[in-house]
Amino acid sequence: MPVTIQIQNFKGGVGKTTTSINLAASLAGKGKKVLVVDLDHQGNTTKGLGYAVKDTTPTIFHVLKDIDFDFIGAVATVRENLDLIPSDSRTAGLEDILHSMPRREEMLKIKLAGASDWDVIILDCPPAHGLIHLNALLFAEYIIFPVTPEVWSYDGLEGVLGSIKRMQKYFNYKPTILGALPTIVDERYSLTDQVRDLLEQTFGKDKLLTPIRTDAKLKNSQKKGQTIFEFAPRSRAAEDYDRLADDVLRRVGLKKKARGK
Ligand SMILES: Nc1ncnc2c1ncn2[C@@H]1O[C@H](COP(=O)(O)OP(=O)(O)O)[C@@H](O)[C@H]1O
Ligand SMILES: [Mg+2]
Repeated sequence: MPVTIQIQNFKGGVGKTTTSINLAASLAGKGKKVLVVDLDHQGNTTKGLGYAVKDTTPTIFHVLKDIDFDFIGAVATVRENLDLIPSDSRTAGLEDILHSMPRREEMLKIKLAGASDWDVIILDCPPAHGLIHLNALLFAEYIIFPVTPEVWSYDGLEGVLGSIKRMQKYFNYKPTILGALPTIVDERYSLTDQVRDLLEQTFGKDKLLTPIRTDAKLKNSQKKGQTIFEFAPRSRAAEDYDRLADDVLRRVGLKKKARGK
């Protein structure tokens, strides 16, 4: 079965979407078969991968709302080795629809139970409490927490850690924290000692993932609907996301394969 990873932090603007896109693209470039699931009604991962959703395009909305809809019908191949279940503004209506369903926290797990064709599944999560968040928690085996070097992005983790505790108690299920991922790190300041201490206290010393430095090319690549490897393959962001992908593969126990093989 695939390795399943959710990218989560209740703070917006910490690099969840940027990480979903470029970690997925790096893993795909290293020969892994990757499925990205966009769970955010902003659809930024979908747009960032250059995928246009029309009124008739099936999305995660259709997968989760309709009991008879096979998830495969919403999978779009967007690059070599890289597939996407897209999202758009309709996904905002899912919270209400899920509310009246039995096993409402487990719909993603139920609907994607047959998703065995991929090596890795990455979930880009909205920065919000609610049923989509709980569905992601119950589906994914691992969590990555992007954090920016200011203390405020650490605050967004407390809510997620609270949810994990509740899920463990009520569903007897606990995702493994793969690590905190420092993003938008200014090389001159790097991670402040205060945040580093907080993260190490919370997650342990070996739970700091390879940091992603500040690189304006990430923003520009997303605007063009390209991954950083297409837009600026020699940029430091491409270098950092490749390093992160190696780090992740090592931590989840998937062997590396050389790019293009
Ligand atoms: N390492 C980085 N360097 C510079 N800008 C970044 C970096 N990572 C993300 N950004 C930019 O910051 C903004 C927020 O990132 P995003 O991934 O959308 O965050 P989230 O999904 O957590 O809301 C975007 O405009 C994105 O392009
Ligand atoms: Mg986002």
